[in-house]
Amino acid sequence: MEFFVKFVSVISLFLSSVLGVEIIEVEQSMFGHGDECYGTHVGFGYSGSAEFHYESLIRRYKGCKHVEGNLEITNLQSDQISYDLSFLSQIEVVTGYVLLGLLDLESIPLTNLKLIRADNMFNIMGEDYGLVVAFTDSTGENQHQGLRELQLPALREISRGRVLFMQNPLLNFVNTIAWNVIVPGIDNPVTYGQSAYNTTSVELCDPKCEQGNQRFCWGKGPNMCQIVHFPVCDELCPGRCYDSTIVGCCHPECAVGCTGPSNTECTMCKYFKSNNMCVSSCPGGVSVRNGQECIDN
Ligand SMILES: *[C@@H]1O[C@H](CO)[C@@H](O)[C@H](O)[C@H]1NC(C)=O
Repeated sequence: MEFFVKFVSVISLFLSSVLGVEIIEVEQSMFGHGDECYGTHVGFGYSGSAEFHYESLIRRYKGCKHVEGNLEITNLQSDQISYDLSFLSQIEVVTGYVLLGLLDLESIPLTNLKLIRADNMFNIMGEDYGLVVAFTDSTGENQHQGLRELQLPALREISRGRVLFMQNPLLNFVNTIAWNVIVPGIDNPVTYGQSAYNTTSVELCDPKCEQGNQRFCWGKGPNMCQIVHFPVCDELCPGRCYDSTIVGCCHPECAVGCTGPSNTECTMCKYFKSNNMCVSSCPGGVSVRNGQECIDN
């Protein structure tokens, strides 16, 4: 019996040391050039303890500007941890989907996120989503705790997929967003599930957020205004446009918008930027880039 216990503990010690080495190696090779990092593909799942999960999020995303893959921020609901998600505020581009779920936090500070390209979409019940915000209220004793503001003031485009809100009873400022401007080419881009947001909220956008006769914002205060340009596109344009009096379509390599027809006139590049041109691959291949910037060699 004693031998057996010892045997098991030796085995588990051996396993954990082997696994430990493996995890470190995997994480080192997961990081790309400079500001780039790799996302995850686990949906609402996570492994390890709540603390381990939080620490792995920090290790993965701290200092990261460009997430290759999906950004999944989920399962942050422990009373024992005082979460600080400020490490997310450097992220500018996510090439997959964004999933925010099972959270007890008041806000997720993705304050510099500009582009969700959604090359890979999150499928729920046959529908493909580029952004999912779900189950953001507290489950246990901490009633009245949960996501109150989205705080995505820099978000200009979700290139593919729809947006889903579900079970966010405390969330404000969802119907103060002009989603059509962010999600191009889909008529009603937002799906509202049960308790999608706080529909009885009386919270108002800052007066600075007024455009036309309406206020557009992601949260309280003048820093949370949505920048809205309502383009009136000619039907012949498959995506974004810069003018409606002529058939002024943006180049297909553009994200967000453009000032003219060429791939040098994009507001932002969808994929990569090389010598001021937006391109779908870097001249030397994808390994010669840092985030969206091609590195000349
Ligand atoms: C929704 O907002 C209103 C007013 O801002 C607030 O009184 C109410 O408690 C909120 N609902 C929930 C479920 O928190």
